[in-house]
Formats: sequence, C-alpha cells, structure tokens
Amino acid sequence: MEVKIQLKENDIPRQWYNLAADLPTPLLPPLGPDGKPIGPEMLAPVFPMNLIEQEVSPKQWIDIPEEILDILYRWRPAPLKRAVYLERYLKTPAHIYYKDESYSPPGSHKPNTAVPQAWYNKQFGMKRLTTETGAGQWGSALAFACCLLGLECKVFMVRISFDQKPYRKIMMQVWGANCVASPSNETNAGRKVLAEMPNTPGSLGIAISEAIEAAVTDPTGKTRYSLGSVLNHVLLHQTIIGLEAKKQLKLAGEKKVDVVIGCAGGGSNFAGLSFPFVADKINGAKIKIIPVEPTACPTMTRAPFVYDFGDTACTTPLLAMYSLGHAFIPPPIHAGGLRYHGMAPLVCQAIVEGLLEPKAYHQKKCYEAALTWARTEGAITAPETSHAIAAVIDEAAKAKEEGKEKVILFNYSGHGLMDLSGYDAFLSGKLTDYELPETDLQKFTAPLKNLPKAETRKTGKW
Ligand SMILES: Cc1ncc(COP(=O)(O)O)c(C=O)c1O
Repeated sequence: MEVKIQLKENDIPRQWYNLAADLPTPLLPPLGPDGKPIGPEMLAPVFPMNLIEQEVSPKQWIDIPEEILDILYRWRPAPLKRAVYLERYLKTPAHIYYKDESYSPPGSHKPNTAVPQAWYNKQFGMKRLTTETGAGQWGSALAFACCLLGLECKVFMVRISFDQKPYRKIMMQVWGANCVASPSNETNAGRKVLAEMPNTPGSLGIAISEAIEAAVTDPTGKTRYSLGSVLNHVLLHQTIIGLEAKKQLKLAGEKKVDVVIGCAGGGSNFAGLSFPFVADKINGAKIKIIPVEPTACPTMTRAPFVYDFGDTACTTPLLAMYSLGHAFIPPPIHAGGLRYHGMAPLVCQAIVEGLLEPKAYHQKKCYEAALTWARTEGAITAPETSHAIAAVIDEAAKAKEEGKEKVILFNYSGHGLMDLSGYDAFLSGKLTDYELPETDLQKFTAPLKNLPKAETRKTGKW
C-alpha cells in the first residue's frame, strides 16, 4: 500500500469540469438591481469577458490553456495521500485519502484559480487586480499569481485576520502585492463602515465591497476585480483537484468512493474536490458528499435559501444562495476563511437538490481534530481544513461501528503554519465555542424578505 499516490505531469487533467452543465435542476440566474436576470455585459466593469464567458458557460468541459498548465506544474499534479497513520490511530477499517493542496507555494488550493484568473485578465489587457481576503490564503495566492504574470495586485484584508495573521500580509508583500486592512479609509464603502462601527473586526462582505469599488473606479480602465471563491468560474478552476483525485484513486486500486468531504467557506475547495464525484452521483453512484462549515457561521445548515448580495454594500448582482444576510458580521473565530455570509450558488443548488449533506462543527472540536492530525499524520493544518478533518474522524468512527471498509476522500485545503495564534489560543484554553444565536440569524436575514424570492427547484431524486 502506498502512502503517496503521485501522477506524472503528463497525466495532469487538460480540461476543467463544469457542474452547471449536469445539474438536474438548473441554477437560478443572477439578478440585477431591477430584479431581472443580468446579461454578461453587466459584469464587464468588474471581470474580463473571457472569465465572464466561463462564468455563464453551459459547456461540460473547458480546455485548460497550456500556458496555465505550465505555471501549475510548480506544484501540480498535487499528491493524493493515504492517511494511514490516522487510520491506525483510529483503528478504523476505512481507507482515508486526502488531496494535499497545502503543497502549493502559497500553501492552499487557492492558486488553482488565482493563476487562471490572473492569466485571463492579462490576456484581456488588464494591468492590475484587486481582491479581498479573509484568512489571507486567497490574498497571498493572488499575490503569487500576479507576481508570476507581471500584474499589480491590491488586497483588502479583513481587519481581524490582518491583526491575527501578520505573516500572511508579509507573504503578499514578498510577492509584490499591496495589502491593507478592511474596512479601510481608501474607499467610500470602507469609510462608511468605519464611521458607523470604528472597531469592527471587518467581514468578507465589506472587503469585497472595497475591492470592487477600487477596481471599477480606476480611471485607466485597466483594473479588474478577482474573487477567490463562490463564483462558477472559480469553482470550475478548482475541479482540477477532484479530476486528479479520480485518477489517483484508480492508481491506488480503489474501485469506488463512499464519502467525499471538504470544508466550505465560499465553497471552492469543497466544489473542486467533490464536483467530479457529484457528477458520478447524478449518474447513479452512491456517495455521501459532505461540505463542512463552522457553527459560528452556519450558512448551509441554518440560513434560508434566498436571493442576496455577495457584499455588504450591495454592489454585486443578487445570487441565489443560502445566506446569513449580506450585513452579517461573523464572530471572530479562527477559521477566517469560513466566515463568509453566503455560499457558492452551484453548491447551494446541489444542496437544494439533495445531492450534498452539509454539516456544522464547533471550533474546539475542529482544533481537537487538528491536534489528532498533527500528532498522527504530522502536518499542522489550516483551521479551515480542520473542519473537514473533524468530519473525516466522525465518518471513520462510523465505518468502524459498521465494520465497513469505506473509502473516505477529503480535501486537505491548506497548511496552518501561518495560523499558529489559533493553536496557541486553543492550547492555552482560551478558545470558546460559538453557536450563532437564533435572534442574530433572524436579525441579519430579515431584510432579505424585501429582495426577490429564490424558488427551491428540485427533482426529488435524492
Ligand atoms: C485553507 C483554506 N481552506 C478553505 C478555505 C475556504 O474557502 P473555500 O470555501 O472557497 O474553499 C479557505 C479560505 O480562505 C482556506 O484558506
């Protein structure tokens, strides 16, 4: 039995997989301020047209340009690993596999889309990208991609993470990017929030508003905005993870997968691993597919399915998704990348359809799982990824109870070497669990009643 299952560079997938083409019930369209579906041209001030084409593409497979593959070879194909040391510790009959996305230079799955996004922007003649970042993983990934492609990069980093994770900011600077804490004084959106809440920890919704404003107000017209999750084209780029995993599981001699797990902030690493398996499920395979989120930010497990804005200042189109409300200010838990108020529409429609089984975990249980992981497998995981590991441990225990040799696959979305302050808080007993109070959920979602209704459409097959 092999612990590391490697693909040859020549075996790297050459197309991305687009779940939108196969969903049994189609996605609801994004809506403009007038409540009518938007056309691609309405997104043009924010994104380059070549990425907008991917965003709305009905094609099942989209070719990956050779020049993008040439950059990805720095770390792809990423290894599939078998967590034998954890298996032995848990005494489980389950086979636990994980895609090691911590292997990329910035340390997470995020450059799988940062590189194509920067490449397509450059092809379109853009000189500069703006973005937001929560934990700093996305900001550092875009800084890395812009550095390799010769683009300028400006990052609005959520205040709480800016303070908790100073090393991420330094990484961005090493790759030549400019990173400021959000809310900042550099945009109208930031100044407005600071006037109302000077001590706010910030949120991804606020940082997105700032980054979009900074892009669309550039008088040269050579700046576009880049998003690290949520949108269809971002999830599309991440499917290289699941497509590689399929080939690697075959090499490992596995004939089926029983459980697929990923943590979900905006949904991109989860989707990247799971969507090729969701396709199998649509075609009849029996697979349990679990996106995992924090109880502090329970988008998939408690929020309503609605039309909502992607940002606090209500500048984005309305997306049909589970949402805690665009004004939601999440509690300052350590998994900064899992604190977004919404969720990728593709993931949400798959939930509505019954194809996915979302779960929520408290942060202390996740840190316990992270310690078990570090003390068996060895690596120190990102706090976001620890949510997936907690679910893996639960599923492995279930396999043990049932005496079944289940195959469990999860996405090891990033390392936690820049996130040690969270471990410090946990080890010194300072970490508390947090469950979003029902009154807060009601407060933040009440204003959504005035927006267009999102119809829940499903075939009832799952
Ligand atoms: C390591 C890691 N995993 C997961 C996530 C969550 O993002 P997404 O749901 O887009 O994969 C983040 C976001 O910053 C992250 O840094």
